[in-house]
This record gives sequence, structure tokens and C-alpha cells, in this order.
Amino acid sequence: MSVVVKQIHPVFVGEISGVDLTQPLTSDVANQIEAALDEHAVLVFHNQAISDEQQQAFSQNFGELENAKGGNVTKATDRRLEEGMNDVSNLGKDNKPLPRDSRQRLFNLGNRLWHSDSSFRAIPAKYSLLSARVIPDAGGNTEFADMRAAYDDLDAEFKTSLEGLICEHSLYHSRGALGFEVTEEERTETFKPVLQSLVRVHQASKRKSLYLSSHAGKIHGMPIPEARMLLRDLVEHATQPKYVYAHQWRQHDLVVWDNRCTMHRVRSFDESQPRDMRRTTVAGTEMTASQDLAA
Ligand code: OGA
Ligand code: MN
Repeated sequence: MSVVVKQIHPVFVGEISGVDLTQPLTSDVANQIEAALDEHAVLVFHNQAISDEQQQAFSQNFGELENAKGGNVTKATDRRLEEGMNDVSNLGKDNKPLPRDSRQRLFNLGNRLWHSDSSFRAIPAKYSLLSARVIPDAGGNTEFADMRAAYDDLDAEFKTSLEGLICEHSLYHSRGALGFEVTEEERTETFKPVLQSLVRVHQASKRKSLYLSSHAGKIHGMPIPEARMLLRDLVEHATQPKYVYAHQWRQHDLVVWDNRCTMHRVRSFDESQPRDMRRTTVAGTEMTASQDLAA
């Protein structure tokens, strides 16, 4: 089996053919896929009708699965999918679209803001793998932005001013931006803030990238309005059309992205129709910043 990669956007995103993800991969093929991710940051695989087990097995070629604990407001008893799977569908346990006022639905609306998965964890995610099991007739594209290309294009003096800046990330910031009502327990326990570098270096490619996310809400040592304004300006810069790829889903597509150097968001769709999207997440291996700074 040989992996064929075709770049489908001017700055990133590879479309892969020649791989059947229902089957175990040889380490050679897994290495070729990881090398393609190091270069292209987002990979698109078509016609991969995989089960949850196969998706988990494929994901584990690239590291350990992230423990999803604390990443959402869904109660264990309300879960539709088994542990190990992140349910990013619009469906409840009964496989029907969630009602308008469902807390789970309102929380998931946060995925429409530009973000990087798990940037609210001290050790944030490496890869996300999203499988389209059922898609709506229209809408619901997922957009990706290349944070390496966005960083490269900043002028040298501005790059220097960003060096060493540390941001506070929390689900409280992304959900707060939408006015989602957070309980006291969520605010102090589940959504406990973590610190992340604003600029990070991708280990394998050695490329620098902006590490932005809707979860970022403060910058250490900077007044909050100034920090929020800088973050807004950076997100606006980094999500210009020249850095963005919009993925229009076909059923059984699997898209893999590197959270360390991209952001993504989902666009709106008719929520009376099922959109059954299932994600596995490969855990990262290191922090981007020390967690010791006083908050
Ligand atoms: C995710 C996510 C976008 C989508 O799975 O991390 O943000 O298209 N999903 O559902
Ligand atoms: Mn996401």
C-alpha cells in the first residue's frame, strides 16, 4: 500500500489516497501519514466507512487517546457514545437532534468559534480525527486555518513583540463569549484555566505558529482589554481567506488535523437534520508553558 498526498490548498491541507483505514496500518504507512501531517497540518481521507473501534485503532498509531474528562458539560449518563469517542454531533442519547434549549447543544455551539482542541488543558491535544457518519443536506462545513502561514507573514518587529507571551486558556472564555451560563462548580473546577505560549514551535517541522483559540482570554502581565484586543487582531489576521480551507463534508470522510498549528470551526446547518460527527483525539506530550505563573 502506498500513501499518495495531493495538496489541495495553496498553503496547507493534503488529500490522501491509497489507504484503507478499516485495516491495521504498517508502521511505514503510519509514519508516512505522520510525515504528511507535519507538512500539510490537515489531511482529508475520503470513503472511509469506519467503526468507532477502527477509528480509535487508527488514532492510536499517533499516540495515546486523550482522556475526554472535563472537556464538556454532558453528564456521563447522557452520553451517546462510548468513552474514547468525542461526540460532536447534534444528537442526544436517543439519536435525535438535541432540543433548542439543550445545555449540551448550547455548549457545542462553541465549536462555531475558531479554536484549537483542548487548548484549555495544560497538555493540549496533538491531533483530532473527525469522522462524518451522517451529514446534513447542506451547510456544516468545517473550516481550518493555518497558524504557521499566518505567523510567517507577520513582520519581524511584531513577531519579536509576541515572543514569550503567555495566554490563559479556559472553556470559561470561549463559552462566556457566547453568554453560555456556567455554574459555579464548572467555573472553578471543570473550566480551571491553564497557561499556553502564544507562539509555539512545531517539534517535527521546526516551524513556528501562532497558538490561538477562542479559549484564550488573558495574557500574563497585560491588562485584559489590551490582551483581548491583541488576541482579536491576531485571530482576524490568521483567519483571512488565504490561510483558510473550508471542508465540505461527504459521508465517510475522515479529516485529521494538527491542533498545535491550526485552528478550526464548524459553520451553521439545519439542526433539525442529524449531523453525526465523531472525534477521536490524540493527546499531546508536553506543555507549551510552565503552569507556575501566579494567575
Ligand atoms: C471538533 C470540532 C467541528 C465539526 O470536533 O473538535 O470542533 O465540524 N468539530 O463538528
Ligand atoms: Mn474542535
